[in-house]
Amino acid sequence: MKVTTIGAGYVGLTTSCVLADHGHKVICLDVDQVKISKLERGEVPFFEPGLQELLDRVLKKGTLTFTDDRKTAYYHGEIIIIAVGTPPQIDGSPDLRFLKTALTDISEHLSSHKTIVTKSTVPPGTNKWIESELAQKADRKLFDVVSNPEFLKEGTALEDTLNPDRMVAGGNSAEAVARVKELFSFVSAPWFTTSLTGAEMIKYASNVFLAAKISFINEIAAICDAYHVNVEDVARGIGADPRIGPAFLRPGLGYGGSCLPKDLSALIYAAKSKGINPKLLPAAGEVNDSVTKSYVQRLELLLGTLRQKRIAVWGLSFKPDTDDTRYSPALTFIRKIQEKGAEVLAHDPVVKETSEGIISQPDPYSVLTDADALVLATEWSVFKQADWGRVSRMMKGKIVLDCRNVLNTGEVAAAGLDYHAIGRYQ
Ligand code: UGA
Repeated sequence: MKVTTIGAGYVGLTTSCVLADHGHKVICLDVDQVKISKLERGEVPFFEPGLQELLDRVLKKGTLTFTDDRKTAYYHGEIIIIAVGTPPQIDGSPDLRFLKTALTDISEHLSSHKTIVTKSTVPPGTNKWIESELAQKADRKLFDVVSNPEFLKEGTALEDTLNPDRMVAGGNSAEAVARVKELFSFVSAPWFTTSLTGAEMIKYASNVFLAAKISFINEIAAICDAYHVNVEDVARGIGADPRIGPAFLRPGLGYGGSCLPKDLSALIYAAKSKGINPKLLPAAGEVNDSVTKSYVQRLELLLGTLRQKRIAVWGLSFKPDTDDTRYSPALTFIRKIQEKGAEVLAHDPVVKETSEGIISQPDPYSVLTDADALVLATEWSVFKQADWGRVSRMMKGKIVLDCRNVLNTGEVAAAGLDYHAIGRYQ
């Protein structure tokens, strides 16, 4: 099929590459010319495992091209995939500016039939609105709209796209939904079909449930800590119940990234705009905000004060295997300890510099000289395999605060270091 993808971010680029690898003829459009130039040179503009190799392959096959020329892009696709960003605004609602621009462009290029597939995460009612907006500007027979939310995770984007748990399609036209199923016919996951708005709600409810699950285990971890109970045992014990499930029960600094915090705020906003006052959803966000504070307090307690203390921090990205630092709990933690007078030296395996001006030092050990404490903020696997003897010899203090409950406590202690975590006891 001829496909146009609008947006070359994690969702747009991964989807484009995978579709192109499965024989579809794909043009990927982005307004960011720097990004497009990089992609034309064959460079993936962000860190995502496996994506560079796949891009190399599809560029060789000639099934994927990039452009910033809207006319070329919109003319090409019989399927138009909208994968533009919907970043959060101050009031919690997502900014639909990029989506609206895409719609205007689509309406101006509807010379033949197009199936518009919305992958961007959009508030309930948006796809219905897209349909009515287009109907005002163009012949109704020339387009269909299908809401096809994306569930891929950064760090495992490719695997998630090739082997998703489920596919969701919402739409008013059975033929259009069938076309989208055909587009992804290489996927063996079950399809759930619903209304346009139903699909939007599935996406929000999924992300918000995951956020609530993380906040739940973080609250349980705090209680476990007070009772000297190992929260991992509790997570395993409750996770064995299929009604609960073991995934997403890892306690720590809380959730970050460009999706969970944004979608939680957006769903609260959407509920309030209909006169509904949710209670559980804001609580999930409040717990998430409070976990960083708990770790800051723990470090302060361990050191007596943070003033003029030198703190080594491992990890800047919002989770391992990505260079994305948007809403990274590691950065919130760093900002809070800096406000309390700490000097921070950080290292991340792929992040070079954050928008806050934190520069990643060249290697994990270079941040340790004279450090009063080491904080593990993001659980990159390289940190789990650290040479703890070397860490111990380089640091001034002995405190290791594991904010992700992942380090081998025995190895850390054997090197003469004082291991600390929240809710981790043997
Ligand atoms: C999330 C969803 O998991 C995807 O299904 C969805 O498609 C995506 O948002 C999106 O809407 O685009 P992502 O933001 O890439 O994916 O990352 P997650 O793996 O969900 O992690 C989110 C945060 O939760 C991270 O900060 C991670 O460290 C944290 N987390 C995750 C925990 O603190 N504990 C856990 O047990 C799991």
